[in-house]
Amino acid sequence: MSADPGPSGPSTPSKKRSKWEEDEEEDGRPLYVPQSKRRVKVKPSAVEERSGAPPSRTPSQTPSTIYRPAHSIYVPPRTAHPPICPSRSVYSYERLNQIEEGSYGVVFRARDKQTGDIVALKKLKLDEEKNGFPITALREVYALMSCRHENVVGVREVVVGDTLTQVFVVMDFIEHDLKSLLNMMPAPFLQSEIKTLMLQLLSAVNHCHQNWILHRDLKTSNLLMNNRGTIKVADFGLARRYGDPVGVGGLTQLVVTLWYRAPEILLGATTYSTAIDMWSVGCIFAELILKEPLFQAHGELELISMIFKLLGPPTKNSWPEYSTLPLAATLTLPSPQPHQFRSKFPYLTAAGLDLLMSLMTYDPERRISAEEALEHPYFTESPLPKHRDLFGSFPSAAAGEKCVIVLVVIFSH
Ligand SMILES: Nc1ncnc2c1ncn2[C@@H]1O[C@H](COP(=O)(O)OP(=O)(O)O)[C@@H](O)[C@H]1O
Ligand SMILES: [Mg+2]
Repeated sequence: MSADPGPSGPSTPSKKRSKWEEDEEEDGRPLYVPQSKRRVKVKPSAVEERSGAPPSRTPSQTPSTIYRPAHSIYVPPRTAHPPICPSRSVYSYERLNQIEEGSYGVVFRARDKQTGDIVALKKLKLDEEKNGFPITALREVYALMSCRHENVVGVREVVVGDTLTQVFVVMDFIEHDLKSLLNMMPAPFLQSEIKTLMLQLLSAVNHCHQNWILHRDLKTSNLLMNNRGTIKVADFGLARRYGDPVGVGGLTQLVVTLWYRAPEILLGATTYSTAIDMWSVGCIFAELILKEPLFQAHGELELISMIFKLLGPPTKNSWPEYSTLPLAATLTLPSPQPHQFRSKFPYLTAAGLDLLMSLMTYDPERRISAEEALEHPYFTESPLPKHRDLFGSFPSAAAGEKCVIVLVVIFSH
C-alpha cells in the first residue's frame, strides 16, 4: 500500500484511516492528516505542543529532523495499556460437586489444578441470551471487582469453557451460606455472635455504598460464612451503580427477593437508593434473631400488610412521601396502630431494638445508613461482639459434608 495519498487524497474513508495509521507508524514522515471536511488538519506544531515534544523546528531544520512521538497522539503508548490477557480455560479447574443452581447460574465447587486451591465457580446463564453478553453478568463481575473487601466474596478470575455460552466467575470457596446454616443450626446465634455478623455485614454494605454500588439482593442465601466466623457478601447479580443518570423508565422494581424488599419498592418507587439495601439488612438482622425469615409472605399485598402490622401503618409524620408513591392510592391504610417490635422481639435490648427499628424505618430518607449503623451503641453494650476465632464450625453442606450431621443424628437416636 502506498504511503502517498496522491494529489486528490484517498478515495474512501476507510482507506483514509488505514493510510493515516500506516503513515504515522511506518515511514517517519510528518503526520499525514487527510484533508476531509470532517477532520481537522493538525499542524506539526500542534502535535508537538500536545505531546509535550520539544519546540517546533526552525526554518533551517529539514523534515527528517522533526521530533515525532513514538505513538499516536490520540492513543496512549502501548506500555500505558493494562495488560490484556485471554481468559483461562475452565479446564484449569477440576470439577468437584455442584453446590447449587440459583436464579442466574449454577455454582460448582472445584479445585485449581495448578495451586490445589478449592474454589467456587459460578456459571453465568448466557444460553438464552440473544443480544450479546447479558448486562446482569457484566454488572455482577464489575460490582464484585469494584467492591473488594474482607467481607465481600473474593473473585479470582473469569474463565471460559468450550463455547461462547460457557463463562464462569471463579470465587473463593466459602463453606456456608447463612440461609442453609440457619436451617441446619439447632439453636439461634447468640447475641454476641449476631453482633459480629452484623458488624461484618454492615462493613461490607458500607464499602459497596461508598463505591457507588447498590447490591439490591441482600438476603441470607446471598451471605456466605466460612468456618472462621467471617461473613462474605455474595451474588452481585442484581447489583448496579447508583448515582449514574437513570433511564426514562426509572430503576427496575424487580429487584430484591420479595421478603427482603423495602416498602418504597413495593409501593412502586422508580427512584431509590442505598436505603433499599438497609431495609434488607434490617430483615437479615431480624432473621438472625428469630432463626427464620421475618416476613414470609406469599405475595406483595400480604407482605405490605405484614409490614403495616409490625411497624404500624405509615403516617404523614413517619413517611411524608407515602401518598406520592404510585401504588399508595390503590391501598387502604388500616387504622393507626402502634408498632409491635417489642412483642415480636421480647429478648432484644433497648439498643438492639433501636437499631432494628432504625433499619426498618418507613421513610428511606430517615432510614439509618450503613456508616451510621456501624457506630450504633448496640455494638458496644454487653454482651460485646464475639471474637471470630471463637465461632463454632459446622459441616459444610456445599462441600458435601451434610451427611455427617445426618449420620450423627441417626446414631444418637
Ligand atoms: N463462593 C462461594 N462459595 C461457596 N458457595 C457459594 C459461593 N457462591 C455461591 N455459593 C452458593 O451458591 C448459591 C447460589 O449462588 P448465588 O451467587 O447466590 O447465585 P444466584 O444468583 O443464582 O442466586 C449461594 O446461595 C451459595 O449457597
Ligand atoms: Mg443468590
